[in-house]
Amino acid sequence: MEAKKTPILEVKDLSIDFGGLTAVSDFNMEVYDGEIVGLIGPNGAGKTTVFNMLTKVYQPTRGSILFNGEDTSKKTVVDMNKAGVARTFQNIRMFNGLTVLDNVRAGFHGREVYSPLAAILRLPSYRNCEKNIEKGSRELLEIFGLSSEADNLASNLPYGAQRRLEIARALATGPRLLLLDEPAAGMNPQETEELMNMIRLVRDHFNTAVLLIEHDMKLVMGICERITVLNYGMMLAQGTPEEIQADPEVIKAYLGE
Ligand SMILES: Nc1ncnc2c1ncn2[C@@H]1O[C@H](COP(=O)(O)OP(=O)(O)O)[C@@H](O)[C@H]1O
Ligand SMILES: [Mg+2]
Repeated sequence: MEAKKTPILEVKDLSIDFGGLTAVSDFNMEVYDGEIVGLIGPNGAGKTTVFNMLTKVYQPTRGSILFNGEDTSKKTVVDMNKAGVARTFQNIRMFNGLTVLDNVRAGFHGREVYSPLAAILRLPSYRNCEKNIEKGSRELLEIFGLSSEADNLASNLPYGAQRRLEIARALATGPRLLLLDEPAAGMNPQETEELMNMIRLVRDHFNTAVLLIEHDMKLVMGICERITVLNYGMMLAQGTPEEIQADPEVIKAYLGE
């Protein structure tokens, strides 16, 4: 990765308290354009809470999040998505009553590339846009190996395919930063291997930076360029996969068991 100039995400001293408990404290990290970065650590370390702050599901108690160089303190969940942050959840969330194709389409619709009036009147701008959405959605299904499932209900997909659909849907919003919360959870080794290739493809094809929470160390060490380790809400270490695997503190707190 040569183009490492622009930090798309810059997190400074990020902290959040829940009542008396500080779940994340003084967390710092950067993600550069097109980078794949890992966020690892024991259960309860605060990883998902970091994602919830980055997407504004939670308002940080202290610290700052710059996205694209812009302060995000006033931004909402919807603003963050519009600005180019998309995520998947530790527990799969999607529209179970919709087909696989329509789930991905729904992601594109958040972009509002035509006016609502054009939609009501079915103007050419709307129809062209619908055509492009259909095309883009089918491309994403192809990439994620879901083309043959396009017309099936999302809820009928096997688990691993649902996980892939969730990523495809997040990508449909056109993110510059994709946050994946344990995407390989519950996948078998072969599915995990395929997922790894898809994440690489996402970065190469869409030039989307990826921040990844994951316990599968083969996946994390295999695709991340840099890794941050959280422990008890605090940063324990930051470095390349090699540095992290050799770090005695990290081995003691997390990798050792
Ligand atoms: N809304 C909340 N209210 C109170 N405590 C919370 C809330 N969200 C997360 N926490 C606490 O923050 C800590 C970190 O949780 P989490 O971010 O889910 O960990 P991880 O994803 O690393 O397993 C846990 O102790 C959890 O109970
Ligand atoms: Mg979590």
